[in-house]
Amino acid sequence: MIEKRMQELIKLIDQASYEYYTLDKPTITDQEYDRYTQELIKLEIDNPNLVQADSPTIRVGGEVIGEFKKITHEVPMLSLGNVFNESEIITFNKKIEKEVINPQYVCELKIDGLAVSLLYKKGKLVRGATRGDGIIGEDITHNVKTIKSIPLTLTQPIDIEVRGEIYMSKDAFKTLNEEKLANGEEVFANPRNAAAGSVRQLDSKIAANRKLACFVYHLPNANQYGLNSHYEALKFMKSLGFVVNPNIEIVANLDDLLKYIELWSTKREQLPYEIDGIVIKLDNLSEQIKLGYTAKYPKWATAYKFPAVEAITKLKEIKFSVGRTGQVTPNAILEPVRVAGSVISKTTLHNEDFVLEKGLKIGDMVVIHKAGDVIPEIVRAIFERRTGNEIDFVMTKNCPVCHSALNKEDGVSAYYCVNPLCDAKKIEGLIHYVSRDAMNIDGFGERIIEDFYNMGYLSNFNDFYFLKNKKEELQILEGFGERSINNLLDGIELSKQNSLERLLFALGIRHVGNKTAKILASYYKTIDALSKANYEELVNIPNIGSIIAESIVEYFQTSIDLIEALKESGINMTYLEPKRKQNSLFINQTFVLTGNLETLTREEATALVEELGGTVTGSVSSKTNVVIAGAKAGSKYKEALELNIPIWSEQMLLKNSKE
Ligand code: IVH
Repeated sequence: MIEKRMQELIKLIDQASYEYYTLDKPTITDQEYDRYTQELIKLEIDNPNLVQADSPTIRVGGEVIGEFKKITHEVPMLSLGNVFNESEIITFNKKIEKEVINPQYVCELKIDGLAVSLLYKKGKLVRGATRGDGIIGEDITHNVKTIKSIPLTLTQPIDIEVRGEIYMSKDAFKTLNEEKLANGEEVFANPRNAAAGSVRQLDSKIAANRKLACFVYHLPNANQYGLNSHYEALKFMKSLGFVVNPNIEIVANLDDLLKYIELWSTKREQLPYEIDGIVIKLDNLSEQIKLGYTAKYPKWATAYKFPAVEAITKLKEIKFSVGRTGQVTPNAILEPVRVAGSVISKTTLHNEDFVLEKGLKIGDMVVIHKAGDVIPEIVRAIFERRTGNEIDFVMTKNCPVCHSALNKEDGVSAYYCVNPLCDAKKIEGLIHYVSRDAMNIDGFGERIIEDFYNMGYLSNFNDFYFLKNKKEELQILEGFGERSINNLLDGIELSKQNSLERLLFALGIRHVGNKTAKILASYYKTIDALSKANYEELVNIPNIGSIIAESIVEYFQTSIDLIEALKESGINMTYLEPKRKQNSLFINQTFVLTGNLETLTREEATALVEELGGTVTGSVSSKTNVVIAGAKAGSKYKEALELNIPIWSEQMLLKNSKE
């Protein structure tokens, strides 16, 4: 009975996903969808032995694998030949016309992601694999299962392998990089790298949180399914539940083909995902078979690549800069060059390994690539253009500003200046202190901080709060006046009221980004409590790992004086509850916990809910908004069912806490 209902729910949810993702025509509301999911989750929590491998609740991730298994593709995963301009397209068409009279093509967008093979047995997803070298790829099933636009169950119980592209939308990419920046982590260069980096994770929770998607575009051995054309294959895959890109066109002549290319060469900017070209495929399957393959490519298809947003220029110099953490970064100083509408004269080289891997020398001619809003990158040096006068790159072993010896930890490619008195670190630290996500003090540009530092007005964070005593001196400085100094001072006073997480982030504790700062502030509520926390306690907090915990303990061992000084200046050091309007899933909501959660203790789950604005109470009533149920949930769980109160699993709690 229960099993039947579970199957029914899986069907309903899968059907709803199919209508939403594949057909783009939802027939049920989000609330109805959530209700089915809730009911299924409830039943799965109660009946763990009945949980099906293809249950849609698997999308939240959680499976962790030890290593990537190698798999052999039954049909090799070939790549495509390239054409770059009209005359090469004409040549491609001529070659086809030698074998085929009046060829008809399917034109598709070339999605800029990574190729994936999806294998289904009796309609169930059994394996997802990367292309690898085309013959041997890697098993990424655990991550593929978290991608919502990849069906776990097909509309027919057939054995089939399809191929497509996993990609990340422009929006998801932007958000991910913003998060990475805020946490002091390295950003991804483009959505393709971000998608590839996400599926190459052992822990599927990471992929689950990365908002990946997939379009399918190829059915190997399509004729075995009674199909006659590629277009029919696309329609067939769509009917099975896959998402096929809608911007596909059948063209019957060269003119229409060129028109399609021209259209998407400009319209690509409006797409929510990146494309790097157009794929042209001969439609008829028997004609495809007639043309066959070269060792690498099908002869019946090709990819027109959009002109790259690349430019060639000279790497004039490599200059080192020091960040607030003390990390010393090599930067490329370039002969100014125009790429994709902007002039580039400088770009980051990240770290020593980046320069060595690319084999860059000073004086090299280099290829610069820029895509969208992304930071321009040096792709490679043009070795053929070397003159012999190029100079080898040597990573500096001393801080470019204070000249103290740099420190390099094992296994990390970055070098750090560890001199606490280093001017550059201090200036960067002060700039960070006032920045938007930190103390958010208006009016302080980098230049002003640097000038104030050099003039001796600012040396440590507490000096900001003494600037008011220097008002007379400051307002006669060139470029300032009474009004602008008043504004600065008002901003400084206002910042004293900030909630604790801003201060924690502003202090620049290594590995404490703004998200971690929020977790810590809402957990400990005061800086005194946090400063007394030991390592064991810290690592037990969800999302706080050993590196962060160690860094926090070390920070408070050495920085109590600064904290005390800031306290005396009147800086708020307590956590202020977040504004009510955000976190709609938690704010003003009453939660009840029941049963044993798997990874969180009851205290941790309570803290998490409270930190996001919810309240946890002990008993279920009509006022309860959500019941969080773990294994062996008892009467509270039944009460929730009777009162029709939404029930979350622990996984849903964690997922929703990140929304
Ligand atoms: S068809 C045998 N269609 O481009 C046919 N590929 O440069 C195989 N790609 O490896 C591929 N969008 O990863 C095809 N609509 C599309 C595509 C597409 C992106 C990728 C795919 C392939 C690479 C070739």
